[in-house]
Amino acid sequence: MGHRAAIVGAGHTRFGVLEEGPRALLKSAVDAAVASVDKGVERAAVGEAYLGTLGFGGWQIGNASAVLAEEAGMPGVPTTRVENACASGGTAIRAAVRAVEHGDRDLVLVAGLEKMTDVSNARRRYWLGVSGDTEWERSAGLTFAGVYGLIASRYLAQHQVGADALAEVAVKNHENGALNPNAQFQKRVTREDVRKAPRVADPLGLYDCCPVSDGAAALLIASPGSAKKFTDTPVYIDGVGAGSDTLAVQERPELTRFGATRWAADEAFHAAGVSRSDISFLEVHDCFTIAELLAIEDLGFAKPGTAGGMTLDGTTRRDGRLPVNPDGGLKAKGHPIGATGVSQAYEVFLQLRGAAEARQLSHPSRALTQNVGGAGATANVTIYSVG
Ligand code: COA
Repeated sequence: MGHRAAIVGAGHTRFGVLEEGPRALLKSAVDAAVASVDKGVERAAVGEAYLGTLGFGGWQIGNASAVLAEEAGMPGVPTTRVENACASGGTAIRAAVRAVEHGDRDLVLVAGLEKMTDVSNARRRYWLGVSGDTEWERSAGLTFAGVYGLIASRYLAQHQVGADALAEVAVKNHENGALNPNAQFQKRVTREDVRKAPRVADPLGLYDCCPVSDGAAALLIASPGSAKKFTDTPVYIDGVGAGSDTLAVQERPELTRFGATRWAADEAFHAAGVSRSDISFLEVHDCFTIAELLAIEDLGFAKPGTAGGMTLDGTTRRDGRLPVNPDGGLKAKGHPIGATGVSQAYEVFLQLRGAAEARQLSHPSRALTQNVGGAGATANVTIYSVG
């Protein structure tokens, strides 16, 4: 159905516990994106900018997008902050695609950012909690790990799946993260390590959880018609989809399926005019190991209850039939909330251009990213191609 937009440059900071503050992180990611444009780009050519961020810890809750223009060296550019919790980055990409698609802008900057590690544990819990249902779930003391722990318990019982399937998601993603120089955790773990790790919210232990992270990522998104001015190998965005669901999981008919992902996927596939079998690999929102299994199923790549088997038989490994999270995912790469959706697109940009070095997949031609806000209250799905 044709290309809707094209990524012509992408930048990424290291993810982890970092010295740099939010401004420095934004500047590094944008500078790297600008430097990555093969044929060069003038910053003045950027006509619009979007910043995906939660504003964790209370950092610049109002008008944060002005800081993006400032640090990007793009004075005067119209900027908008986009906030959809952990899906802020994916939602910012969607806004950028729409800006170029409607002929408004030829070149748009998208950045995702979060600085999470410079606050006390109590404030961290508060700021993680603000994106869940604050009337019921939070007042009952539920954290995100708690909500996903309930979902995981239900999933394992409903489908008669063993906890090894969750552990294998962590093993695979840590193995991929070990090959990603930007990842927070660049170390391998075994199923035994995962099983023996301290419990966080049963059945989820430490290695079933994403960490708390600092980091930023940035993309330059052009209209398909102007993309080749910037590079001979743009990565095209062919479909974007978005969906939402009730904020509180208790209002949903099913705990173990995310309607927001399913709606977003249907829209993205319809817009791109491709089918599941055309997709070479997935970058999904594995904030907890159970979330990767749900994503594979809700995106339509496995029937309910079968993604664990696919994980255990190696299908989702880098050398498997459908690699999932070759960059280490949120689990090992880290999850600076607003940066995650943009970071997923950064991995796609590298992989589809054959530039992912040690973790390069074998000749991928199309990819899909899924970025989720909270426990499935919002979701974005994006489909990309090259060539
Ligand atoms: N995976 C692997 N190792 C982890 C880890 C994770 N998710 N989180 C922390 N660690 C490691 C640290 O590197 C540290 O190792 P070290 O002792 O070798 O230095 C050790 O575990 C303790 O780290 P600490 O930061 O004190 O852990 P914590 O107990 O305060 O926090 C979690 C651990 C899992 C509770 C925390 O990372 C968390 O809340 N994660 C979920 C974040 C979240 O909900 N995001 C939104 C998703 S929707």
